[in-house]
Amino acid sequence: MHNMIETLSVALGDRSYPIHIGTGVLTQVDLILPHIKQKKVVVVTNTTVAPLYLEMLRSALEAEGVSVLPVVLPDGEQFKTWETLNLIFDALLGARCERGTTLIALGGGVVGDMGGFAASCYQRGMPFIQVPTTLLSQVDSSVGGKTAINHPLGKNMIGAFYQPKMVLADISTLNTLPERELKAGLAEVIKYGLIRDLEFYVWLEENLEKLLARDASALTHAIHRSCANKAAVVAADEKETGERALLNLGHTFGHAIETGMGYGEWLHGEAVAAGTLIAAELSHQLGWLDAETVKRIERMFVRVGLPVFGPRLGTVRYLELMSHDKKVQNGKLRLVLLEGIGKAVLSDRASDAQISAAIEARCT
Ligand code: NAD
Ligand code: GLY
Repeated sequence: MHNMIETLSVALGDRSYPIHIGTGVLTQVDLILPHIKQKKVVVVTNTTVAPLYLEMLRSALEAEGVSVLPVVLPDGEQFKTWETLNLIFDALLGARCERGTTLIALGGGVVGDMGGFAASCYQRGMPFIQVPTTLLSQVDSSVGGKTAINHPLGKNMIGAFYQPKMVLADISTLNTLPERELKAGLAEVIKYGLIRDLEFYVWLEENLEKLLARDASALTHAIHRSCANKAAVVAADEKETGERALLNLGHTFGHAIETGMGYGEWLHGEAVAAGTLIAAELSHQLGWLDAETVKRIERMFVRVGLPVFGPRLGTVRYLELMSHDKKVQNGKLRLVLLEGIGKAVLSDRASDAQISAAIEARCT
């Protein structure tokens, strides 16, 4: 007996792939089987997710005659490194995995980004599947093919664009997610409303409590709508030559917070929340966003319980950290700013003084 599944597609020509969203889909391996070429797969996961979900996935695959090699990584943003990546390569080589072996990333964005990057490099590219188990990874990181590890000088600095063969998002895995992680995931959900979907933003204002209570139908709607927004942007601009940069609202400030505070101190979604308020403040100071709209955005993040002020790293340190941003072009910082709810723009018009003033106003 199969549960209700909602399916979207990321339209990338012959590299198009489905995103399946549903309750209990983790064990519906009939969704996975068409995408694997061999009777052996590698499942990359971590020490937190393995005891919760590895056995479910493994036994469902083994029941279909597919053997599973688990690779269990240490858990945490601070382990999104070369050293951890190498553990994946050690396991792949040790088990004589071939170019045609499929890698399944089972976990949150850290596992997904590292598993995807390993798949992009191993024997110059092996197929991979995303099985995201956090809200953040179900609405954002598992879709679109950005894979990476961190560098001490900057977040996600070493990586590749490498699309998965499919994404399988099981909403029931969110039942075990810690409250703080659920809230962090909502930051990326709210992002889609802010950058390109006013109607969704209004729906979020009306349904936030249901999402915080993990109501399955509200979560399904939010994940579906987020993935639909992301899939549309990725299909239009896979390698981020334009529109895709808008998905980085709040991220230039947010990445500076994550790197500056030490990876793992602030969750990615928390840093994005505070970063979004700095971007909104800057948009206001530039005369593009009225004060009431900044307050409306702040109210949304406060209701979730996300930070609306960044840490006091000092403006010089912020600017130094932000100078490594991947959107820097010819040495000039480009920032995602807001002209209204549902309307983001990429701009290099803010001066360092204006950026510093917004940081000052929004950091405690
Ligand atoms: P995460 O992967 O660290 O997961 C958060 C925590 O939840 C971890 O401790 C994890 O082990 C645990 N966990 C995962 N699933 C669980 C479950 N079902 N039940 C209980 N615990 C569970 O963090 P995240 O928020 O999923 O992802 C953040 C990462 O994603 C960052 O590194 C960020 O840079 C990256 N990211 C990438 C993209 C992209 O496009 N590739 C987009 C956004 C974020
Ligand atoms: N998370 C930003 C992107 O995928 O482009």
